Amino acid sequence: EPGLDLVHLVSTAEQRRKTHCEHHRDSVQTSSDGFPPPGAYIPQCDQNGLYLPEQCHGSTGHCWCVNSSGQERAGTRTGPGSPRVDCRTGETPNMDFIGKLT
Ligand SMILES: *[C@@H]1O[C@H](CO)[C@@H](O)[C@H](O)[C@H]1NC(C)=O
Repeated sequence: EPGLDLVHLVSTAEQRRKTHCEHHRDSVQTSSDGFPPPGAYIPQCDQNGLYLPEQCHGSTGHCWCVNSSGQERAGTRTGPGSPRVDCRTGETPNMDFIGKLT
């Protein structure tokens, strides 16, 4: 039947298995009344359901880098107003250059 394939495609796209990140995110967002608890960290996933390399906590303003499992990479956490770590390179903020300018 014409049209059946399209229906099939659409439904499989909608039913793509959720990734770890999406499950993680959904578990936070649907914990009680469908809203995340105040101050909760909500994982940020890209359109493929993978953890974004940089995760930020909306309430505290802390940001950090994660690996593909969503695990925080040690030494990458920065507070509000601090220079961010570049999560693509893993470079930690380098304050040395500021001293060299003076
Ligand atoms: C992510 O980091 C965690 C904790 O350091 C580690 O156990 C895990 O194997 C890492 N995953 C990948 C894909 O590197």
